[in-house]
Amino acid sequence: MPSNSFSLYTHDSSPLREVDPPGRSRGVSLFLQSIYHGHMPDRTVDLRSDTVTQPTEAMREAMMNAPLGDDVLGDDPTVIELQSRCADLFGKEAACFVPSGSMANQAAIRAHTAPGDEILAHEFSHIYQYESGAPAAISGCTFAFFHGEHGMFTADDVHSAIRPHDHHFPRSRLLVVENTQNRGGGAVWPLDQVADVTAAAREHGLRCHLDGARLWNACAATGVEPADWAAHFDTVSSCFSKGLGAPVGSIVVGDQDTIHHIARIRKMLGGAMRQSGLLAAAALHALDHHRERLSEDHHRAKRLAEAISNCPGVVLDTNTVQTNIIIFDVPGQDENQLQEEFDSHGIRVFSIGPSRIRAVVSLAVDDSDIDYAIDVMTSRLTTLTSSTA
Ligand SMILES: Cc1ncc(COP(=O)(O)O)c(C=O)c1O
Repeated sequence: MPSNSFSLYTHDSSPLREVDPPGRSRGVSLFLQSIYHGHMPDRTVDLRSDTVTQPTEAMREAMMNAPLGDDVLGDDPTVIELQSRCADLFGKEAACFVPSGSMANQAAIRAHTAPGDEILAHEFSHIYQYESGAPAAISGCTFAFFHGEHGMFTADDVHSAIRPHDHHFPRSRLLVVENTQNRGGGAVWPLDQVADVTAAAREHGLRCHLDGARLWNACAATGVEPADWAAHFDTVSSCFSKGLGAPVGSIVVGDQDTIHHIARIRKMLGGAMRQSGLLAAAALHALDHHRERLSEDHHRAKRLAEAISNCPGVVLDTNTVQTNIIIFDVPGQDENQLQEEFDSHGIRVFSIGPSRIRAVVSLAVDDSDIDYAIDVMTSRLTTLTSSTA
């Protein structure tokens, strides 16, 4: 495998071909290709992820003005404020600010498990698919997978996955739920179903972790507060660097002892930071100013999804577009060619499986960007599917 390539897994877990990493050689080659083919895109609309947002002027100002200390010594006032604010928001005793969603998840997994333990999670889950094998490498854990629609599963699935108390088997130890479900098209779990699956896990003595990287979107879509989701879990991780538009940073919340343990793991993993109040200030600004606007992203995503779903040859049920992620299939089309076709016309998306494309709406995209994306994507899809019909 060339060193600048990476592999994804398909929706159905069959191995995918290698694809270029985002934003590096691929971007350059597509740029050159578009010049070669004589069509320079009029503009670029970046729908690859909600992680591409740039800090706004107001956010940069908040960062510049933040009072700072040394968070490894425990005296950065802005980090302290963010942690206490998040503990309150999620109705937990304590919180730990970490550099990334992956570290938030993996520190929580490490805190809840021992080597040889089994984690129960959906096969689409980010902790398994996209965190570099960390549960095995950092915590020595194995997985039992659920396979339900849109990354969800039921209490019966949980009961069936529990291992007998017998020394032949790994110990069923931790249930992980992802909300919203990234590979499930940004689907939001019904709160009742969250209550059911976590209650089932607790009957068997499991701990429960919520990967709430985009929990803010779930809150905006449903009106359910962070604390109402969090009440069902021992720990919750959540990101400021996705739809909320901060450049860096995630939080893990839980009880005092668990968060104390997680702070130790953060240090062990090299994630303890010094004047990290700079970053915490961006997160606080995002909590104050960018939560309300998430429903705008959801409306724009729906508008784009509706337009795409009307194109011939596209499979997209717009009812599944509940938040800011759109996943659609174009059966018979090569996903990498589709991505390149959109890319060369200025629309950046990701191919995520056979004939499958993902587009994500964020702070980086306004109404006129969506109009442009609709024009380009519908015309390219119509041309491509009619030429192969
Ligand atoms: C559901 C989910 N969890 C965790 C993460 C990891 O976040 P980070 O990229 O900050 O490590 C992501 C990133 O996209 C995600 O989608």
